[in-house]
Amino acid sequence: MTITPFSALACPLDGGPLLHKGSCWCCAAGHSFDIASQGYTNLLPVQNKRSLDPGDSKEMVAARRRFLTAGHYAPIAGLVSRATLADLPAGAACLDAGCGEGYYLRQLTATASQRGQDLAVLGLDISKWAVLAAAKQGKDCAWVVGSNAKLPVLPATLDRVLCMFGFPVYPEFARVLKPGGLLLQVDAGPDHLRELREVIYPTLKPAREPDAQAPDGFTRLDDECLRFHFHIAGAEPIADLLTMTPHLYRANAEGRARAAALTEIALTADVRLSRFVRSAAR
Ligand SMILES: C[S@@+](CC[C@H](N)C(=O)[O-])C[C@H]1O[C@@H](n2cnc3c(N)ncnc32)[C@H](O)[C@@H]1O
Repeated sequence: MTITPFSALACPLDGGPLLHKGSCWCCAAGHSFDIASQGYTNLLPVQNKRSLDPGDSKEMVAARRRFLTAGHYAPIAGLVSRATLADLPAGAACLDAGCGEGYYLRQLTATASQRGQDLAVLGLDISKWAVLAAAKQGKDCAWVVGSNAKLPVLPATLDRVLCMFGFPVYPEFARVLKPGGLLLQVDAGPDHLRELREVIYPTLKPAREPDAQAPDGFTRLDDECLRFHFHIAGAEPIADLLTMTPHLYRANAEGRARAAALTEIALTADVRLSRFVRSAAR
């Protein structure tokens, strides 16, 4: 078995190491967190939540799962898997911070298995619906409900952190990565889903320039841009794409109605993968 669940977890209440005991994770101070029957653990204490049901809703998660399973973003998964597994040290560990329903980790672990590469894997998301869906589909990884703002992970225990279309919290990523470890961040480029945005918005805002500076504690290695075209047929798959993006909430009623009237659309995917290396501790 080359893929194993990551186990260097930290108590979300006091930061101490968590030990796996029977059907829970416990720390030395006696804080205990049950492992759900589906295999995930909720490490987001109620006092760290800003809302009752944070992160993506059940409907958004289901829409993203259907869209990604159809394979439209397979080139993005291929790019990220290759970048993550390149020059991987033996016994490496990887976190997907904001993993959604786990599509990219499933693609990554399948590629690592094919290549016979060992990898300990953790998927984390603030949405319990996302983590539940991920845990149901992938038994080899550790899955936790948690926040990037306070990762329930021991310091300097990870070789790779992925942040895909997510919410990076760089001081936390720097804390959990080993010196020399990599942060791989994927963000939408200026033309990403442009054709859909042209349907739903009267005018498109100019794209924001990416930050040229590396975050504190990191050195920028390089950026790689990926563009490709894909086609979606059917009102329901188009509605899924809209539901999984922020455009559903940003668009006004007329824009949403124009998108709902579509029966097919040709789209551009345009993403940027930025690689940052964790600097050695001073
Ligand atoms: C745009 S989705 C991307 C999901 C996944 N990375 C993908 O590309 O399929 C953003 C994800 O970040 C999660 N999220 C939002 N705030 C978060 C936080 N503070 N910590 C961890 N995850 C968060 C959401 O629940 C959602 O699943």
